[in-house]
Amino acid sequence: MAINNRSVGIIGTGSYVPDKVLTNFDLEKMVDTSDAWIRERTGIEERHIAPEGVNTSHMATEAAKRALEMANVSAEDIDLVIVATLTPDMVIPSTACMVQNNIGAVNAGAFDLYAGCSGFVYGAVTAASYIASGMYNKVLVIGAEVLSRYVNWEDRDTCVLFGDAAGAAVFSAVEDGYGMLGFDLGADGEGGKHLTIPASGVAAIPTTELIEQGKTFIHMDGKDVYRFAVKTMGATVVNALEKADLTIEDLDFFIPHQANTRIIDSAAKRLALSKEKVFVNLPKYGNTSAASVPLALDEAVRAGKLHRDDIVALSGFGAGLTWAGIVLKWY
Ligand code: ACO
Repeated sequence: MAINNRSVGIIGTGSYVPDKVLTNFDLEKMVDTSDAWIRERTGIEERHIAPEGVNTSHMATEAAKRALEMANVSAEDIDLVIVATLTPDMVIPSTACMVQNNIGAVNAGAFDLYAGCSGFVYGAVTAASYIASGMYNKVLVIGAEVLSRYVNWEDRDTCVLFGDAAGAAVFSAVEDGYGMLGFDLGADGEGGKHLTIPASGVAAIPTTELIEQGKTFIHMDGKDVYRFAVKTMGATVVNALEKADLTIEDLDFFIPHQANTRIIDSAAKRLALSKEKVFVNLPKYGNTSAASVPLALDEAVRAGKLHRDDIVALSGFGAGLTWAGIVLKWY
């Protein structure tokens, strides 16, 4: 599938992680777990945790500034700021409005996007559609999360998995034939029950009782989410490739959502990709939800892993349940 009118690509990336590191060995002292179990079942070695006072908007702002710098674009030239997050600073105002103010994007609209760990890829498709249509020229998409504040640090099933981070990318019209070639977005609301924060909205405003019952923490049926992830993560890339009239043989590089190395390995197998063609930084950061794909993308870009003309796929899956994949010809 060709995306009409104008080609849309990524012209700059940035990311931010807080300094504080929590290792598997630290977790061994907090819950009944072991470094060996966490590595073997997830691939995670450590994660970064935002200190008190550092919120999603702060990290998103830093990542955005770095992306703007790489893109050589001034904040005044940004038409729209999208922040993908499950962990906004507050329900109102949106985190995107906070970032818009922090960076001085005085000519931009701003909104939050809410699609779990797929959020950045959903944001990328949203940005591309605004730019391809000619409605906007430059869109800043950020994925940022402080999931550590929703983790029950006494629940070994979930507390070993998550970390805090932010990643950002500047989208712009690019040379014809480059940029986004195909995409795939999907949702399975039926499966939403497998990954929830029960008391986090108007259905159950947190009360002392609900807090004491642990309803303000992440609840996850790990095995169900795992099965869903294995089914969707490679398939969404195949769908995006098909829309771009490409096949898995055309794929040069894959940047998957970083949740579990076993899930990444299974997607890589589905896409017939060797290890060198798959970017993995999960051991250092854990699952940073909507920040995971842009953080990995930024690291891959800065490490010189992406080259002009490469066919690159990004994909995510997560709460909702949702999935998303895009295929780009690297600019
Ligand atoms: N340390 C030690 N043992 C543990 C731990 C731990 N941290 N956690 C669970 N166990 C135990 C279990 O209690 C169980 O013990 P039992 O056999 O005596 O009952 C055993 O280990 C096996 O547990 P499983 O849940 O079967 O382990 P599994 O291999 O399924 O791995 C995991 C669990 C890592 C959570 C996996 O299911 C997974 O990765 N799921 C996907 C999660 C995910 O990707 N979420 C992404 C979306 S997040 C978002 O959108 C915000």
